[in-house]
Amino acid sequence: MTLIERLGMKMLFQMQPETAHDLSIRALASRLVPGAGGPVTSPRLRTRLAGLDLPNPVGLAAGYDKNARAVGALMQAGFGFIECGAATPRPQPGNAKPRLFRLNQDQAIINRFGFNNEGAEAIAARLAARQPGIPVGLNIGANKDSTDRAQDFATVVRVAGMAADFLTVNVSSPNTERLRDLQGADALAALLNGVIAARDALPERRPVFLKIAPDLDDAGLADIAQVARTVGVDAIIATNTTLSREGLRDPQASEAGGMSGRPLFERSTRVLARLYRMTGGHIPLIGVGGVGSVEDAWQKLRAGASAVQIYSALIYGGFSLAGEIARGLDQRAEQQGLTCLSELTGTGVADWL
Ligand code: FNR
Repeated sequence: MTLIERLGMKMLFQMQPETAHDLSIRALASRLVPGAGGPVTSPRLRTRLAGLDLPNPVGLAAGYDKNARAVGALMQAGFGFIECGAATPRPQPGNAKPRLFRLNQDQAIINRFGFNNEGAEAIAARLAARQPGIPVGLNIGANKDSTDRAQDFATVVRVAGMAADFLTVNVSSPNTERLRDLQGADALAALLNGVIAARDALPERRPVFLKIAPDLDDAGLADIAQVARTVGVDAIIATNTTLSREGLRDPQASEAGGMSGRPLFERSTRVLARLYRMTGGHIPLIGVGGVGSVEDAWQKLRAGASAVQIYSALIYGGFSLAGEIARGLDQRAEQQGLTCLSELTGTGVADWL
């Protein structure tokens, strides 16, 4: 972490978490913060995933830049790809504040934002106006008061699909009541078929990703793996935040919402490895949950991921973490004699089953 970053983080930690979050977005959007000079890359780091060319496999997870306000700066922060959103068809305010909590003792976060966002149209306009660079995806959610949630996902694809490089169906947020019911086999197949039909009607193809919860049992996971293969999902992101509070010590652990950060690492990596085994490596997987170091990212790749994403660790470690992890992966790959990081994918699945 640079000195400026350390001072900035110290200041942000004095504020309410959501105020700090909004301020960090504003600082990035107004380019007050110096960029890291673009994505870190090397022949070992370059990754082809679902038709996308990533300069490195370390991405920014959804939910930080919900409204695509800071895309320009984030594209320069060292990441190999970023994901904005979640976007819903219509703008909505989300749940009552406070709704974001730092669990410092556990290096964890609890959030219950509930898809606060400015709506698909406004977000698509910002995405469409961005400069060329690394792949930028859009995470898609449903409006809280929607009468047809499955339809909401297809609507966002129609409205915003062309403005993003990939589209993520997020049926795994715990903060919109009953949203996770859409992970059931029949509901999921119907929803994804609608999304893929909307995608196929776009002038150009966009890969469709599916993001899943870490709280699924083997039967639920097997259903998802089967549906994803049948309908032709391009990649699966494992995982979203958890409802579990296992292993937490911080007094704020009793807040309602989805928990992320370090204590999510093991649970989400186990789900990733189980999913890799079930999909037989036929669908690329993106590992998310508790990644905060080179070793964490390395383990996600060994457990079956082709790329990783980070969010909570950035709150504790700053944005320079993205580049540090990418550079560290490159070094380690060189030491181990790998020509490409993709050679690592799935080599340690058994350790996580
Ligand atoms: C999230 N996450 C999230 N995921 C998603 O698919 N759509 C969203 O809108 C959000 N919003 C969101 C807000 C906040 C404040 C947090 C902390 C997280 C989940 C996120 O993308 C990621 O899957 C988890 O946070 C696990 O990764 P980390 O944070 O442990 O690296």
